[in-house]
Amino acid sequence: MQLCWLKTDDGRLPSYNSRIKRTTKKRPARTGAPASLPGIAQKTDVRLGRIVRLLMDNATVVASGTKIAEEIGTSRSEVWRLVQQLRSLGVEIVGHPATGYRLQSAPDLLLPEILAPFVKGTIFGKNIHHYYKIGSTSAAAMEAAAAGAPEGTVFLAEQQTAGRGRGAHSWHSPQSTGIYCSVVLRPALPPSEALVLSLAAGLAVHAAVQEIDSRVQPDLKWPNDPLLDGKKFCGLLTEMNAEATRVRYIVLGIGLNVNQTSFPAELQPLATSLRLATGTEWSRMELCASLLKSLDREYRSLVESAGAHDSILRRFQERSSWIRGRQVRIEENGGGFDGVTEGLDPRGFLQVRTAQGLRTVLSGTVTAR
Ligand code: BTN
Repeated sequence: MQLCWLKTDDGRLPSYNSRIKRTTKKRPARTGAPASLPGIAQKTDVRLGRIVRLLMDNATVVASGTKIAEEIGTSRSEVWRLVQQLRSLGVEIVGHPATGYRLQSAPDLLLPEILAPFVKGTIFGKNIHHYYKIGSTSAAAMEAAAAGAPEGTVFLAEQQTAGRGRGAHSWHSPQSTGIYCSVVLRPALPPSEALVLSLAAGLAVHAAVQEIDSRVQPDLKWPNDPLLDGKKFCGLLTEMNAEATRVRYIVLGIGLNVNQTSFPAELQPLATSLRLATGTEWSRMELCASLLKSLDREYRSLVESAGAHDSILRRFQERSSWIRGRQVRIEENGGGFDGVTEGLDPRGFLQVRTAQGLRTVLSGTVTAR
């Protein structure tokens, strides 16, 4: 049975996000091959990551084409072809087959060979899949989870062509400027804890950003929109497959706007990036590693420690300016109401004082009034 949390029709938590409407509301029918992958998905040739790793490990010397070919078990001409491919992806490599190769600067690509050592010891260190282009990392992760992918499997892409947001929205996912990441989780928790997991994911993003630059103070809009300057720089999508009392798997999709310098006109009032908000370029690799580590901490504590649920609610309330005393409008399915926020209930739902009394927001979009 696929349980839909909070009455969404596709298993996702409700939308609070970007205003780009998806053009196709229904996902393509299953054809036997994963719906998100054929045609568009360009899974990264693992040899590309191994070449970059080799060049990074020998940064001060020129690595001969023969040595690289031997190390990765291919021919010199194939190495040349792979180097050309890396260059087309923006990796700065000098040299050619006759002279050997040298890396000009460490590339900011989220290659598993580079990322894995940073997240070693977390649940995310063992199975990292990387795509140069994919429809949606969350679609790929959901399909992999249904097929038995282990907990902690990570899907990363440099670019998404059908990035999905909450509700019927899409997620703007231009090449190599953001982090597009989905992880497979298999928590031994009841489906009702998915909301708390979702709040914990917001805290993990907050912690990751602060670990890199403690001067940056993100806000968190319930349930889990990380904001800077009142605009969203990250979106979190929690999709779940569950029985009535037990989660089978959850795919947590994280879209982080990192180095975007502009957004399409319709997103400009709503979206920002870390770069736009801070004026500096961020290392996606460093941030991604930090994010997976903080997510690992939050997640392990939620599934292992009895006090974690309350700690997550408490910390979320501390880091969010939206939880108490905020005049808000709540848009729910088919209606809406105004009120003043009055904390979270013990399950993590937002409480809002209205003229008619205290109301609990189970799903909906929260906006400032
Ligand atoms: C939201 O609407 O706020 C959630 C957006 C989630 C976007 C991320 S990007 C990586 C992952 N893959 C997707 O297709 N969506 C999520």
